[in-house]
Amino acid sequence: MQEIESVLKENRRFEPPAEFQSKARVQSFAEYERLYRRSIEDPEAFWGEVARELPWMRPFDRVLDWSGAPVARWFEGGEINASAVCLDQHLETERRTKTAILWEGEPGDRRSYTYEEAHVEVCRLANALKARGIGRGDRVALYMPMVPELTFAVLACARIGAIHSVVFGGFSAQSLRDRIEDGSCSAVITADGGWRRGKVLPLKAVVDEALDGLGGVHTVLVVRRCENEVAWQPERDVWYHELVASQSSDCPPEPMGSEDTLFLLYTSGSTGKPKGIRHTTGGYLVGTYLTARYVFDLREEDVYWCTADVGWITGHSYIVYGPMANGATQVLYEGAPNQPHPGRFWEIVERYGVSILYTAPTAIRAFMRWGDEHVEKFDRSSLRLLGTVGEPINPEAWMWYREVVGGGRCPIVDTWWQTETGAIMITPQPGAVATKPGSCTLPFFGVDALVVDEEGNEKGPNEGGYLAVRKPWPSMLRGIWGDDERFVETYWSKWPGMYFAGDGARRDEDGYFWIMGRVDDVLNVSGHRLSTMEIESALVSHPSVVEAAVVARPDELTGEAVCAFVTIAPGVTAEEALGDRLKEHVAAEIGKLARPAQIRFTDALPKTRSGKIMRRLLRDIAADREIVGDTTTLEDFSVLARLRGNED
Ligand code: WTA
Repeated sequence: MQEIESVLKENRRFEPPAEFQSKARVQSFAEYERLYRRSIEDPEAFWGEVARELPWMRPFDRVLDWSGAPVARWFEGGEINASAVCLDQHLETERRTKTAILWEGEPGDRRSYTYEEAHVEVCRLANALKARGIGRGDRVALYMPMVPELTFAVLACARIGAIHSVVFGGFSAQSLRDRIEDGSCSAVITADGGWRRGKVLPLKAVVDEALDGLGGVHTVLVVRRCENEVAWQPERDVWYHELVASQSSDCPPEPMGSEDTLFLLYTSGSTGKPKGIRHTTGGYLVGTYLTARYVFDLREEDVYWCTADVGWITGHSYIVYGPMANGATQVLYEGAPNQPHPGRFWEIVERYGVSILYTAPTAIRAFMRWGDEHVEKFDRSSLRLLGTVGEPINPEAWMWYREVVGGGRCPIVDTWWQTETGAIMITPQPGAVATKPGSCTLPFFGVDALVVDEEGNEKGPNEGGYLAVRKPWPSMLRGIWGDDERFVETYWSKWPGMYFAGDGARRDEDGYFWIMGRVDDVLNVSGHRLSTMEIESALVSHPSVVEAAVVARPDELTGEAVCAFVTIAPGVTAEEALGDRLKEHVAAEIGKLARPAQIRFTDALPKTRSGKIMRRLLRDIAADREIVGDTTTLEDFSVLARLRGNED
């Protein structure tokens, strides 16, 4: 890779508001530094202490075993159950009758559950799963809308020691099938449908298609949500409400080893099929518990709302496990942010008195575009903290979030982390660390992050390089399902003993981190990671396409947009209608989120002499930038000239 050059210059700086600071968990920079230093100098003492705040069923013998690096073993010997951490421990306290979930469906229907009620739901469902022969170590795929039953399903799997593999409800049948197959799932939990933008997403029908001709899945448990028509296979399909109703609410949590697998979550890599990122139990819980508590400064009376879908890691860590381990009250919303009007989010904030809001830059930019009036129409005085995650946030959107949404009162936590890291890694401590628009600021406790060059040498202030992590942390991934080699190769082979995150970054003169986006062949559309390679294979699977190269193009709204360069078969005409068909084809193969914004036909792609497509050049062309850097390895110079003039 060329040196990464960082061009963003931003000089604004905001101290934590005094009012917030005076009540915060960490109240000064000195206090943050002291805690941080201790966590780095003596991580075992630090994490051991945190871990002991959780209800272990059997205490752990040692905090960390790094002898099998890069596979860490945290809290070995300990036994714990994630659903007991999220539910049972609260039943002994005043939180028993505290609201856990305030749910709102897109059409406006509402339900709420106390911790005690959620516990009953989870126990019944756990028994229902057992009744279908599902148990410890079995993989269960969840393909569901954002309804409370999704949270219950995650926790019910955890309760009986089954491994959940949540697949985002926007993925296509093919993507779902690949994930079910890769994880050898024996059961699927889904719904007849889910509401999105006033329409029913036919989830059960997608599951039927995904499972067509695929062996291994003996049970499909179906939540009745939209009452849309569904096909039925009586041996395999079971209605959730029918099976769960007859179950006992007594279901003791399974004692799980700290290093037993809790879940798989698939994410895009630069090559090959999606990776089933494997997280284990004890360390993941400790990491999500502590980050939720400190980064969001969670307090008993807070009403917390994370707008992500449980189908992504943000939903796993900061809808289910982190907030519930802390006994938080949270809002859960099923639908689109502009349904039926562009102020829906702010209406929800007003209705429930949301005090902490955690959302994505792409949503913030959409609200910016829709206009301040939709925000200002609703009372947002309950908000005290704002968060963002998923992609770099541009300073303009950050300022808008602060001024318009937060009325200039609320600190913003810009949190950098990944599916692989399990929990937030770089973030301000809201009461202690001054923020700068566009920077995720400083590492969380125990996180030894740095910026290095190709050889792994640390970069100086304001020099761009690769983001890396030096020390193991409790919620780190333990592997890629079924592919240990790929795990080592992807994350641990660039430099000895250091985790390679795949992001470019720089640190400024204050040590603040500024993330510059992915350096591998992964794009980030609306905060969702997509692999260029998967989109390319979807394109090439179309009979008219011979070869395809996909790159990211900067996009005001979605951060990055998919731009595809395509060479077509002889005799096929490069016309707009074909471009549209190809876009639809990708949407059908992978899901709408992967739909290219632009298709550009070309008679050849720029390649190196060894035949590698030079995506770097294509990125420049897609962004309408001057082609910079080295083109000496280019096989055929005329290709570039021809590409320039070739938009669809
Ligand atoms: C990007 C989402 C800048 C980054 C939790 C990372 C960010 C990828 C931020 C992981 C942020 C996430 N600032 N970039 N605050 N948060 N990213 O696995 O490129 O879906 O590597 O996890 O999103 O995406 P993933």
